[in-house]
Amino acid sequence: MRTFMSAELIDGGTAVALTHADGTQTRFHAIWLRDNALDAETRAEANGQRLITLSDIPKTTRLASATLNGSDELTLVFQPEGKTVSFASAWLEAHAYDTSQPRQPGWLGANIETWDGTLNDAIPTVDFQTAKSDCTVLGDWLAAVRRYGFAKITGGPIKSGALLKVVELFGYVRETNYGKWFEVRTEVNPTNLAYTGLGLQAHTDNPYRDPVPTLQILYCLENSASGGDSMVVDGFRAAERLRAESPEGFAMLWQHCARFDYAGSAGVRLSARRPMIELAPDGELIAIRFNNRSCAPIIDVPYDRMADYYAAYRRFGEIIDDPEMQVSFKLQPGESFIVDNTRVLHARKGYSGAGSRWLQGCYADKDGLLSTLGAIEQAQGGC
Ligand code: FE2
Repeated sequence: MRTFMSAELIDGGTAVALTHADGTQTRFHAIWLRDNALDAETRAEANGQRLITLSDIPKTTRLASATLNGSDELTLVFQPEGKTVSFASAWLEAHAYDTSQPRQPGWLGANIETWDGTLNDAIPTVDFQTAKSDCTVLGDWLAAVRRYGFAKITGGPIKSGALLKVVELFGYVRETNYGKWFEVRTEVNPTNLAYTGLGLQAHTDNPYRDPVPTLQILYCLENSASGGDSMVVDGFRAAERLRAESPEGFAMLWQHCARFDYAGSAGVRLSARRPMIELAPDGELIAIRFNNRSCAPIIDVPYDRMADYYAAYRRFGEIIDDPEMQVSFKLQPGESFIVDNTRVLHARKGYSGAGSRWLQGCYADKDGLLSTLGAIEQAQGGC
């Protein structure tokens, strides 16, 4: 951690500039510092939640003084409240926002690493029983899910509903109209093409939901049929490739909403309007939605751009279909895999002939997984 050498009020006390040993400065606004004060009158000591609203802070808030106590702590006096608050230098460093890195649309968040078919040689995998009994191992596996958006679990019970035990490792099932979980095996009159022996193009699940389920688990109970391999593709890597080839095509897919719907069973009419490549307002790549089966007529692209939109949509699909992008494997009974359904596409090769293929699937959400991971990381060494 860098240390602060001096503190100087700037802009009439509406901000403070902290100077590092190398001469660089990090600035903070008075209103930001006051809102983020860590004293017991501003934040509840027990749960860390803020006790005040912004309207409790005077509009005219200024800094009257800024004093460094050694390099470890900054003490500030706010006027007109006459309030004295101290911040640890490490806290300020960790929460600095005075950066000006230009970021191109599609930048990736921390802890995200994109991949292609070469991940076949290093699929992040954990043994179910070990993950259950050793939270350090569980934490490493959850961190891999956060990094790659995909991981396998081996050695689970060969029992209907066992996939819920995988979810219990980190969070909660997302129940939908398909139930707490759903069967993925050949049906006579399927309500969804997933329940046939047809091969399926790589896709994200349920883009017709809003919010979309952010995790999916597919769990194998039987897999003696010929074929039926599972395959995954990193949608973030596909988006990066599209952007590198054609920034204009990339822009087509994040600047316009697609539409998705599902009406395969009685009483269900799901629809959502979202882009195939979703960026945050500051350009962070946050989600992929890609599903040929449930893509509805796209009507939110102007006539003059529709041909270019379709060219980009086609190229994005070609990149996704590129074998070099694919990680494929055949699940054995008791094995499963998890995908970040806002990032990693999954697919199945067609299967037929003697034997059987029986998978069960369910949805869950990343908030629970990341929360469990965060708690394990915070308790590092003590979990
Ligand atoms: Fe699927």
